[in-house]
Amino acid sequence: MTGDSELRLGTLALSSRWLLAPLESVSDCAFRRLCWQQGAGLTFTEMIRARSLARKNKSTLELIDTYDADVPTGIQLLATSAGELADALGVLAEASKDAPHLRNVCAVDLNFGCPSPEIIRIGGGPALLKRRGKLKELFEALRRFQRSQALSIGAVGAKIRLGLNRAEQDQKVYLPIVELANEHLDYLTVHARHARQNSDEPATWAAITEARARATIPLIGNGGALDAASAQRMREETGCAGVLIARGAIRSPWIFRALSGRGSSEPSTDELEQARVAYLTAAAAHHTKPKFVTWHTEGFERMARRLRGAPARGDATCPPSTNG
Ligand SMILES: Cc1cc2nc3c(=O)[nH]c(=O)nc-3n(C[C@H](O)[C@H](O)[C@H](O)COP(=O)(O)O)c2cc1C
Repeated sequence: MTGDSELRLGTLALSSRWLLAPLESVSDCAFRRLCWQQGAGLTFTEMIRARSLARKNKSTLELIDTYDADVPTGIQLLATSAGELADALGVLAEASKDAPHLRNVCAVDLNFGCPSPEIIRIGGGPALLKRRGKLKELFEALRRFQRSQALSIGAVGAKIRLGLNRAEQDQKVYLPIVELANEHLDYLTVHARHARQNSDEPATWAAITEARARATIPLIGNGGALDAASAQRMREETGCAGVLIARGAIRSPWIFRALSGRGSSEPSTDELEQARVAYLTAAAAHHTKPKFVTWHTEGFERMARRLRGAPARGDATCPPSTNG
């Protein structure tokens, strides 16, 4: 604990230890605001490909929709080499001269968990978990950028899985990464599954406990904290400093309110309607891409049906083509 804050990552003093996960096709500016208002201490954009950012790809830059300076937001990057990462961060700093909202990025997170075959084929994401030399180069490049103060980045970190597959998990490839992160990063998030596991399979929280025991930086747990009770249980059982919440927040952003001890994890009908209107207003103001707006509009409808006690329809936590 540091001052009034619940959790400190680098120089970021967070108001809570419950974090909104990077979520492809879900995490837009207006949704992050809703989660933050309910008590999320830090939020993340969806994963952004460093290679596309380095090429100044317009739609990639548009994914960094950090218009809302109030909401602590980190970007998540997928990079396969230190050079690519440095180039991408250079483009970000340069672009921020004409696009001031990019200066609201307060953290940079590296993705080593995306199970997409396309990413693994190019040697990215979980394919790097065993390659300690490359990881070190990536971590160092990230720290170098932070120290350059080209942007004011309070915390740099990474999100890892337990391995590319079961064999790597059994070899505990994640443990040496903790040591590396201790040296170079401000926090490390452990998604307690290997990359061949889908989200319905149970997460191995014992691995979070093991990683936490070696961490001298805050260790954030992830995987299977689907409601307030399980998020609390993850923290108690593993001793992690914070919990990164994905599907639980898609189901109900009010999970953060419950975790902050400020009310129920289900909104009232009025609260839901106010949140829906606020979401649509902010999304319109920030030209949020239609795929996000469609997804959240359906999400608010799903929540309204649930509050009415109507039966659920369809999968409530996965928009099409996501990299979870
Ligand atoms: C719709 C969706 C999109 C996701 N997008 C990302 C992403 O962009 N980057 C990332 O690191 N993980 C992504 N994930 C994985 C989550 O961040 C998280 O690691 C995983 O869902 C396990 O957490 P949970 O049990 O709280 O859902 C995504 C997951 C879902 C369901």
